[in-house]
Formats: sequence, structure tokens, C-alpha cells
Amino acid sequence: MTALSRTSAPPDLAEIFESIREDLDTVEQQFVRHIESRVELIPEIGRYIQTGGGKRIRPALLLMCARLGGYRGERATLYASVVEFIHTATLVHDDMIDDSVVRRGRQAVHSRWGNDITVLLGDYLYIKSMGMALTVDSLELVRLLCDVTLRMIEGELYQLTKTGDVDITEEEHLEIIRRKTAYLFGGSAQIGGVLGDLPKEQQLALREYGFNLGIAFQLVDDLLDYTADEEVLGKPVGGDVREGKMTLPAIYLLQQAGGRARGLLEGIIRDRTVSPESWHELRGLLTEYRVLDRAFEKAVEFATAAKRQLSRFPQTPELEPLMALPDYLLARDR
Ligand code: IPE
Ligand code: IPE
Ligand code: MG
Ligand code: MG
Repeated sequence: MTALSRTSAPPDLAEIFESIREDLDTVEQQFVRHIESRVELIPEIGRYIQTGGGKRIRPALLLMCARLGGYRGERATLYASVVEFIHTATLVHDDMIDDSVVRRGRQAVHSRWGNDITVLLGDYLYIKSMGMALTVDSLELVRLLCDVTLRMIEGELYQLTKTGDVDITEEEHLEIIRRKTAYLFGGSAQIGGVLGDLPKEQQLALREYGFNLGIAFQLVDDLLDYTADEEVLGKPVGGDVREGKMTLPAIYLLQQAGGRARGLLEGIIRDRTVSPESWHELRGLLTEYRVLDRAFEKAVEFATAAKRQLSRFPQTPELEPLMALPDYLLARDR
């Protein structure tokens, strides 16, 4: 399977999440409950976000890992809501930072309500998430969530210091990805393992699983930014180069095509705009040098590393959705 020649239909996310469907519904209800406020704007924007149709991968990951340890109690849905709150906070801020006006097929929060409100709403969601976590008597997990959130913000900040730098290295780019995306995936999986009271070694294996899955997820997200159908993806395509972000396909292209790609990429990144001609040329070079396939192979490596962690667990029905998730993330189109 490659990024460009997909022959079979991607596995269905609803199917993978089947066993935790009820818990995910509870997470939706909790989301609405936790954005209640007498300042009406907060539930108004909160509901707008909640009904926007996110994939809920992080809460699902947490719930599936909790099930692996046999845990089905209330704390799982609470922490699942917490990680979705953190994710949501990063998205509303991220779109403002990236000047990306569409999210989940509709106006991003900042393009509808403006930057002032978006900054404060993001702050509200961050603090709310920690407040929710503090309703359970576990400082260990609050500390974990704080650490993960700090890593994400560091990732976003580090990315900003590299914006417009066509010579960013693959390793620097991976460092951004680990921080801005993978830690939250790792933390979500680990929390599930802690709730399931799994042996320490298995908790860490779940963290590694989530972490590698998160890297694969972001690498695919970056590929979709070049290849996806905008309608299906629900966010702009071609946004990364336009925002001055060199992701793996662009990094590989520069390595392989050298001079032919440098002028083009530098121009796009300098002007912060891509003409249809430049986009056509860029897509042509990506195909000619097969760099989308190469970047996809990298995502496969991390997805495989994620799956390898699962070999430490007995082959129970609870393991199956976790085995299937990496394949979905590789094949996804949204
Ligand atoms: C988008 O995450 C941000 C990235 C880390 C690429 P998702 O693709 O999980 O966003 P939603 O929640 O499904 O919209
Ligand atoms: C992911 O980065 C955002 C965070 C993890 C905070 P991107 O900027 O690539 O995500 P999209 O493409 O806007 O969803
Ligand atoms: Mg973005
Ligand atoms: Mg992106």
C-alpha cells in the first residue's frame, strides 16, 4: 500500500470503536456538560466545536487501553473527556496561529468569533481540562497531563521558530511532531493502562504504542495536506507550505531534487501563497521523485513500531481494536 495507490477501502473507524461506542457517547455528553457557563458565549462556541465532527481518536485510545486492563468505570470517560478538551484547546489556538480558516468542514473558531475570543476560549479549555482531571484524586495523572500539554505547546513554539526555514532537517521536524502530537497520544494510552491497573511494564508499552501511533498519525496528516480531497479532509489542503511549514514530503523533495525544488519551495514559503501553477509544479516534482511514497514509508515504520508494542499483551478481543487502529490511521482520508 502506498500513499498514492490505495486499492482497498480504509478500515472503518466506527467499527474499530464499536466496543467503546457507549463510553464515547458519554464523553460527548460530558463535553457539553463541562462547557456549561453563565457566560453564554462559552457553551455556544463549545457546542459549535462539539458538533463539528472530530474523530475522537485520543479519547477512544484511552478508553480502549483502559478496557485492555479490564477497567470500565467512570474515570475512563472523565479522562477521555480531558484529553479531548486538551486536543480541542490546541486546535482552536493552532488554527489561529496557522491562519487556517476551515476546521472540520466549517469555519474555524477564530474566523467566526475573532482572535480575542479564541485565545480566551482556548485558555478556558486548557484550564478546564486540568480542573476536570483534579476532580479525581490522582496527582500522578494530573502531572502526566500537565507534562503532555507542556510538550505540545513546546512543539507548537518550536515549530514557529522553524517556520519559513526550508533547510529544517528531518530530525528537527520529527522533534516537532513528537512534541505537538505524539506525547498526547502516548499519554492517552498510558492513562488507560494506569486505570486498568496493568503492570508498569505494560503501561509503558501502551505509552510507547500511543507515542509511535501519534508520530505515524501526524506524518499521515502532513501527507494528506498534499494529497487529500479538501471536502473530505474538512480543512485546507496545501496549507503547510503556504504557512511556511516544511513537512516530510518537502524535506525529502529538497534532499532529492535539490535545485529544482529549492527555488519553488523558497518562493512559496517567502510569499506565503501558492499559485495554481506552483502547486501543479510542486505536485509534479513530488510524484516524479516519489517522495510521498517515501514519507508514507516513514509513517508505516512508526505504525509498525506501535503495533510491535502490543506483542507484550495476550491476544484478547480487547486487543483487536488497538491492533486495527494503526492500519486505519495509515489508510485514512480525513
Ligand atoms: C488534528 O487532529 C490535529 C493533528 C494533530 C494533525 P485530528 O485529525 O485528530 O482532529 P479531529 O479531532 O479529528 O478534527
Ligand atoms: C497539529 O498540527 C496541531 C497540534 C497538534 C496542536 P497541524 O497544524 O499540522 O494540524 P492541522 O493540520 O492544523 O490539523
Ligand atoms: Mg494547523
Ligand atoms: Mg496539518
